[in-house]
Amino acid sequence: MASLFRKAPKSSPWPPKAQSHQMTTFQPFDPATMSGKVALITGAGGGIGVQLARRFAGLDMRLALADIRKENLERTLEAVSGAEAIACSGDLAVEPAVRELFRQIRERFGRVDVVVNAAGLMKCSRLEEIDKAEWDQVMDANVGNAFLVCREACAPMREQGSGAIVNFSSLAATVGGIVAGAHYAAAKAAVISLTRSLARYMAPHGVRCNAVAPSGVETDMLWMFSEEQRETLVKGIPLGRFGTPEEIAELVLWLVSPASAYITGQTIHANGGAFLS
Ligand SMILES: NC(=O)c1ccc[n+]([C@@H]2O[C@H](COP(=O)([O-])OP(=O)(O)OC[C@H]3O[C@@H](n4cnc5c(N)ncnc54)[C@H](O)[C@@H]3O)[C@@H](O)[C@H]2O)c1
Repeated sequence: MASLFRKAPKSSPWPPKAQSHQMTTFQPFDPATMSGKVALITGAGGGIGVQLARRFAGLDMRLALADIRKENLERTLEAVSGAEAIACSGDLAVEPAVRELFRQIRERFGRVDVVVNAAGLMKCSRLEEIDKAEWDQVMDANVGNAFLVCREACAPMREQGSGAIVNFSSLAATVGGIVAGAHYAAAKAAVISLTRSLARYMAPHGVRCNAVAPSGVETDMLWMFSEEQRETLVKGIPLGRFGTPEEIAELVLWLVSPASAYITGQTIHANGGAFLS
């Protein structure tokens, strides 16, 4: 029977040698590779944002922290005291605020290596109760701001020829808003698509973009659900518990590190098995 596989010509080198500048050797995760990198974290005043800031600061990364809630941002700044960090408060769904954020990053650090878009807003309104103003607010706070921040990051990252971006989606994007509203689920689905487009667009420039889609993570956002709703949600998680901000931060760190150099355009589901595809 004829082989289904083509035979390699005898002269082919094996393993193949690196042929282009885009080929790179595998690097296992090494904390030292993160030292000095400049990371922008949006939603830095939130439960996942503050944990990301702590983890990055512990690796000697330099931080730009952004959030709409000034007091929470100050709390995060305190949590990373000792790290080189700036904090910018403002509504990142508004173009001038995003431009100002990048102006400050450019002025202070002159580059941006990592962007994590963790800013988000969940509302649990029933579908028929959502008016257009609330729809727009939730879309803006979850995907509008991620788009604006990603767009501003393109130019400096292209110039550097490197960069890693992580956007935040949600389990709701895949299974629909069960307790979370339809607007939140739709916005988080749009985040996945934005991530794929950006990954394709920026790959030739050495920039990667991925998304993380958690289910329940123990932050203020989860406490918006009633106890009964949380119990129902946990029953749908094979691992039998919610995730922690530490677990999500570790995943994000890996995604922005050289250890994941071949991963782009992907959505990583961190949900204890609640959704399996
Ligand atoms: N906690 C969960 O169970 C869960 C599950 C799935 C997805 N997520 C996503 O993970 C990300 C982080 O969530 P978290 O748990 O830390 O929530 P969180 O509510 O603790 O933090 C979100 C932060 O985003 C900020 N923010 C909201 N709108 C903003 C805007 N327009 N401009 C600037 N900042 C804004 C808020 O002020 C807040 O500090 C979010 O995108 C969220 O949708 C969380």
